Amino acid sequence: MLPGPTPECHVTATDRWRLGSYHRPVDVRVTSFAEAQECYRHKDLRQALYDAGEVIMSDVIVNLHADEHRARRRLENRLFRRDTFHYYESELFPDIIRDTIAPYLDTGRAELVSFGHQLMMNLAALTAGVDRPQGTPEETFRLYDYLKTFIEGATLAHYTGDKAAKAAEVLEKLEAFDAEFLMPAIARRTALIDAVQQGAASEDDLPRDVLTVLLRNQDKIPMSHESLRREIAFYLLAGAHTSATAFNRVMHNIFQWIAAHPEDERRVTEDRLFVQRCTHETIRLQPSSPTGMRWALDDITLSNGRHFDKGDRVILDLTVINRDPNLFGADAEDFNPHRSLPPEVAPWGLSFGQGMHACIGQDLAAGLRFMDGDALDAHLFGLVPVGVQTMFDHGCRPDPNDAPEMDASTTRPYFGRYPVVFVR
Ligand code: HEM
Repeated sequence: MLPGPTPECHVTATDRWRLGSYHRPVDVRVTSFAEAQECYRHKDLRQALYDAGEVIMSDVIVNLHADEHRARRRLENRLFRRDTFHYYESELFPDIIRDTIAPYLDTGRAELVSFGHQLMMNLAALTAGVDRPQGTPEETFRLYDYLKTFIEGATLAHYTGDKAAKAAEVLEKLEAFDAEFLMPAIARRTALIDAVQQGAASEDDLPRDVLTVLLRNQDKIPMSHESLRREIAFYLLAGAHTSATAFNRVMHNIFQWIAAHPEDERRVTEDRLFVQRCTHETIRLQPSSPTGMRWALDDITLSNGRHFDKGDRVILDLTVINRDPNLFGADAEDFNPHRSLPPEVAPWGLSFGQGMHACIGQDLAAGLRFMDGDALDAHLFGLVPVGVQTMFDHGCRPDPNDAPEMDASTTRPYFGRYPVVFVR
C-alpha cells in the first residue's frame, strides 16, 4: 500500500548472538516467502511501518492491532465486497476516467506522474467518500494538493528536508481539508442516513463509500472527529498513491516490453488480460512498499525454529521474497507478462500483504486473477489495468522529445516526470 523504507539493516539473529547483543532489540530481516507469510499472520507481530507518519497515520486501520483492528476491519469489510468492486468498475469509474483524460486528449499530451495521481485520486475519493460539490478542475487540483501533502506526511521517514516543519504543514493541510471537503461530505451523508432512518429515502440513495459506513456505525464503533478525519485522509492516499505509482510503473514496463517485443504491441489494445498480467507482474517486481515491517510484542519462534526477541523489528524484504526463483521461475528477476504460475502462487507475490492487514483494496486495484474457465465478460480487471488500458486505447507513447526523470525529493525510486503523447 504505502511505501515503506528500503531494508538497510541486515543483522541476523546469529549476528546478534556473535556480537553478544542477543537481548538488545535490533532489526531482523526476513527474505523467505514462507517465513514472511507466517509473520504477516502472527498475532504478536504489530505494524511498524508508519511510526514516523503519525500526524496522518496514528490510529488508522493499518496501524491498529488485535481487537481494535478486528472491529474496524469487520466494519469496513462491509463495503469492500466483490459486488461493490463490480459496481465501481462498471458503473462509476468509466465516467471518471473519461472526464479525467479528456483535457489531455485535447492537447495530445500528458505528464504521467500527475495524471496518474489525479486519475487514481478521483477514483479513491469516490471510495473514501470525499465529494467534489463544485466539480471544477480547480477543486480537483486543490484536493490533489492536499493529497500530495498527506503522502509526504505518511512517508515522513523518507523525507529529505526538515521533518518537524513538514509534520506541522501536514497538520495544517489536514485541518484545511477537513473544513473544505470532509465537513460537507459528513453533513450530506448524515442527512441521507437520517432520511433513510425516517423512511424518506431508501438504502440505494446512500453512497457506497468508507465515510458512510463509518458514520452509520458510530453507535457501535464510535470514532472522534479527528480519528474519522485521519481514516478518510488515509483511504484517499492508500487508494490513490499506491495505485498511481503502480499505474506509472506499469506504463513504463509495457513501453519497454513492446520496444523489445514488437510482436506484443497489438496486445496492448486487443488483449485486456495482457495488460492485467503486466500490472500483476509490475506489482510483484516493484511493490508499492518494498518492505513490510512489524514489532515483536513477545519472544516469537516460527514453525521452522527461527526466533525473534521481544522488541525486535522484523523487516519483510519483498524485493527478495517476490523474486524467489523456486516460486517464480529462473527468470524471477525479469519482467515477463507471459510468466506461467501454478494456481497457488499469486502473480503479485506478497505485494498486497497477507493476514489481518492484507490489502482491503487489492481486488479493486488489481482485479482478480483470470483462471481457465472464467468468463471474460464478468471479469474484474481492477482500476490500475483499466486506467492503463485507457491510455493505450488512446495511443499513449513516451514523448520522443522529452525523457522521463526520477524524483529527487525522496529516497524512494519514483518517477518525478514522465511526459507522454497520444498518437492516433
Ligand atoms: C496497487 C495498489 C495497492 C497496493 C500494492 C497495496 C498494498 C497494500 C499492502 C502491502 C498492505 C498491507 C500493509 C501491511 O500489512 O503492513 C495494504 C493494506 C491496505 N490497503 Fe492497500 N494497496 C493497494 C491499493 C489499495 C487501494 C485501492 C485501497 C483502497 C481502496 C487500499 C487500502 C488499503 C487499506 C485500508 C489497508 C489496510 C488494511 C488493514 O490494515 O486491515 N489499498 N495495501
